[in-house]
Amino acid sequence: MTSTESKRIAIVTGANGVIGKAIASGIAKAGFEVVMVCRDEKRAQRALDEVRRASERSHVRTELADLSRRESVFALAARWQGRLDVLVNNAAIAPRRRSETPEGIEVQFATNVLGYVWMMRAFEAALRRSAPARVVNVASYWAGDLDLTDLQFQRRRYDNDQAYRQSKQANRMLTVAFAQRWHDAGITVNSCHPGDANSALSNALGFGGSETPEQAAATPVWLATDPSLHDATGQYFANRQPAHCVFAADAQGIATLDEICSRY
Ligand SMILES: NC(=O)c1ccc[n+]([C@@H]2O[C@H](COP(=O)([O-])OP(=O)(O)OC[C@H]3O[C@@H](n4cnc5c(N)ncnc54)[C@H](OP(=O)(O)O)[C@@H]3O)[C@@H](O)[C@H]2O)c1
Repeated sequence: MTSTESKRIAIVTGANGVIGKAIASGIAKAGFEVVMVCRDEKRAQRALDEVRRASERSHVRTELADLSRRESVFALAARWQGRLDVLVNNAAIAPRRRSETPEGIEVQFATNVLGYVWMMRAFEAALRRSAPARVVNVASYWAGDLDLTDLQFQRRRYDNDQAYRQSKQANRMLTVAFAQRWHDAGITVNSCHPGDANSALSNALGFGGSETPEQAAATPVWLATDPSLHDATGQYFANRQPAHCVFAADAQGIATLDEICSRY
């Protein structure tokens, strides 16, 4: 890429987090212009300085959005101009206490699940315009316990680990739904387990994580940038390899979850 006009553009959400910063650096090093989506201006600026230093690239900038709020995500998309070649949904939380957004949605479900869905929907037009384009949903092997009748822990006692595992199962299932939806649009959608790195999120879940941020970012960066993956879609990856996803076989569950999320 020689000019700003021809540079491919990538969004990374949660880009001031441990893995998000390393993903942003890795994609910038691959020659993309990178937009780091963060929710706090000061944390965003600090992370931007770090990513510019680590990647030795200047074509990195920040945008602010609260991904737990639909209005904020669609406002970000409304002020977006031009192409979007890669969207990496990475922002997540695992708060120990249950709380709700001002719209009355349980915060972990809003951020980890609806945040990914809203970003895909809000940026659909930009991704279509830029096809071939890619979406990478950062999920986890730590996934399960999805209850389609109680996604917001209104009936079950809230447990942050259970709510987190549910959200990561949902990321993997919704990846299949969006990959099917966009199959003929030239937009691929894949999910992955990154790696285990010590972060605010991993500590909230009670495990440390011994991999470096760069190791944890390797699979998402590869999915976002490697030319060999141009037509891989609807798959789950770990350690830069396709991995079996037990949730992908549940076509009825995927359709129901997709339909529920479309109501928000
Ligand atoms: N760490 C691991 O070992 C591990 C293992 C498997 C999967 N993962 C996955 O990897 C991804 C990154 O995790 P991490 O370990 O790097 O976590 P992290 O360091 O805690 O970063 C999480 C990021 O998400 C952002 N975020 C949270 N809520 C947001 C909101 N409402 N709007 C905008 N941004 C928001 C945070 O911003 P603030 O700083 O403003 O809170 C932060 O930038 C997650 O999807 C996680 O599920 C991590």
